Amino acid sequence: MDTRLDEQSVYSLDVQGMGDAIKNLPLMLKKGREIGQEEEPLRLIRGIDRVAFLGMGGSAISGDLIASLFLDKLPLHITVVRDYNLPPFLGKKTLYFAVSYSGDTEETLEACTQALKLGGQVVAVTSGGQLASLARNFGSPLLLVPPGFQPRAALGFLFGAALAYMEKLKLVPDLSSQWEETFSLLEELARRYSPEIPASQNPAKQLALALEDKEIIICATPGIAAASALRWKTQINENSKLTALVDFYPELDHNEIVALSLRKRNSFLLTLRDKEEHPRTALRVALTTKIIKPFLLGAEEIMSQGDSRLARLFSLVILGDFLSYYLALLQGVDPTPVEAIRILKKRLSEK
Ligand code: F6R
Repeated sequence: MDTRLDEQSVYSLDVQGMGDAIKNLPLMLKKGREIGQEEEPLRLIRGIDRVAFLGMGGSAISGDLIASLFLDKLPLHITVVRDYNLPPFLGKKTLYFAVSYSGDTEETLEACTQALKLGGQVVAVTSGGQLASLARNFGSPLLLVPPGFQPRAALGFLFGAALAYMEKLKLVPDLSSQWEETFSLLEELARRYSPEIPASQNPAKQLALALEDKEIIICATPGIAAASALRWKTQINENSKLTALVDFYPELDHNEIVALSLRKRNSFLLTLRDKEEHPRTALRVALTTKIIKPFLLGAEEIMSQGDSRLARLFSLVILGDFLSYYLALLQGVDPTPVEAIRILKKRLSEK
């Protein structure tokens, strides 16, 4: 009998508590929201037309997820910069969110310094480090989140704080009812996917078992599904220590479909979807899947759950987080450490 995903095996391998952090996503999101709500609102200069998230990895993804909520809803352009340099289309009329959980990520610190030099308004979201010092020195708003987690496990804090602060600044509409729905849906999903629930009744464990030893291909429709797909990929990279291919509809129908329709590997296709996708995109998913499925070992469509966009977004995020967690455990790997990232950062800091 396969006991690798039984509660006891899970917790004996996960010694640093990644499973608890994932289970606590609803609580962390609540806490993050409170942090954003409590901070004094910045007096915005007139004519803010862009919001730029400056960050990397598990911190930057909060920007992608926030942007996906408003893509077709607001005249405000929300962009994510994952680099040292700011693109020239950003300037004084941009509101910058410098997001680094550790506060010590060099690309984020450099981009943030450039934004401050430009005279841009910067909000820092961090648990401390040099970013917190920079924000204090410049008198910038500082959304200080609790320390002690892996950055990717602190998504609830970072996302919650930044989005609640955007609401406070009235850059985005009031989301109170969406938050309420999100908290209760996430609590329910966290219970349903948690290690205590056996594989026979646990969709996250079942998905991990279906994907075991396969090449993982994630395709997503635009909007919240696409942003969630990025989170699935990075969580599979860092928690499961596996690669995953990611591509997006409708663009993939103009290139990737060719390769996928001739794939001779051990591939499993996951398609992340949302009810607001364009009807032609829905048709594309059906037709594309039909063309490529004979070449795959398996395929599954995952539809977001819930009513509001925020709830639907997090219904996908939490499933991906648990999936990446169980994929690590199936391989006998501790989901928490990310040794290669740690070593690289150490070597860079010595240069
Ligand atoms: C580690 C993780 C990484 C970090 C990234 C940037 O758990 O998710 O992707 O997020 O190396 O570090 P921070 O988030 O501290 O700026």
